[in-house]
Amino acid sequence: MEIIIQPDGDAAALMVARVIAREIRRKPDLVLGLATGRTMESVYGHLVRMHQEKALSFASCRTFNLDEYIGIPANHPGSYRHYMNLHLFSKIDINLKNTYLPNGMAPDLAAECHHYEEAIKERGGIDLQLLGIGHDGHIGFNEPLSSLRSRTREKALTLSTLQANSAMFDNNIEKVPRRAITMGVGSILDSKRAIMLVTGASKASILAKATEGPITSMVTGSALQLHPRCTVITDEAAAINLEGIEYYRWIFANEPEWQTF
Ligand code: F6R
Repeated sequence: MEIIIQPDGDAAALMVARVIAREIRRKPDLVLGLATGRTMESVYGHLVRMHQEKALSFASCRTFNLDEYIGIPANHPGSYRHYMNLHLFSKIDINLKNTYLPNGMAPDLAAECHHYEEAIKERGGIDLQLLGIGHDGHIGFNEPLSSLRSRTREKALTLSTLQANSAMFDNNIEKVPRRAITMGVGSILDSKRAIMLVTGASKASILAKATEGPITSMVTGSALQLHPRCTVITDEAAAINLEGIEYYRWIFANEPEWQTF
């Protein structure tokens, strides 16, 4: 794992977008793992701008999102399909047929989870997985105590997650679906490269736990310490609790990949 600290949230999001753009230019048919949530909105904003101004093309990319709510249709404003169409897919040249999210309305949810894993495998696995982290340490919707070897499956959401995500449901926690389909921690660890974006003071404590604390299913983001190639990109506000902060800055300044950014 490496940790990169940028001055603010927008600089951190821009760096994530640049990593994605560089990978797409290297491999136009990249299999990209996507996340939703507030943190990702500025990453998608930068990618849209790069598409418009720098001819970044997504025409051959395939995307798989981490998660989707169970029991709301794709056209519901709170669904992650709606989020992805709004913030990214409708503004770039991707073929919508190549964008995959779990179907939370599937009559047989277990079969849907199984097919999702198979679909990822058939396309050669995820080349680059984009991740955020929840205040309870979740990646995807892998809430505390999720098995660190879990695969795509149904999951009950914690109260803290329902609260954090209520904005798209009239700020009414009662309206937020209580269950979701999520890629598992094991599925995420299978990605060839992972980039986690963590910004803002409210994430400072969980960022330190996930990166410097013990690997534990109570903080599923900590499993990324086992990932063969994971980069955490953060901002000064979220980095304040990191004990190794000066060490991370030193590595960043001496790592050839980042000298060209
Ligand atoms: C959503 C997802 C979640 C979010 C996390 C942070 O697809 O995978 O793990 O990344 O809940 O969300 P925000 O950015 O809204 O704090």
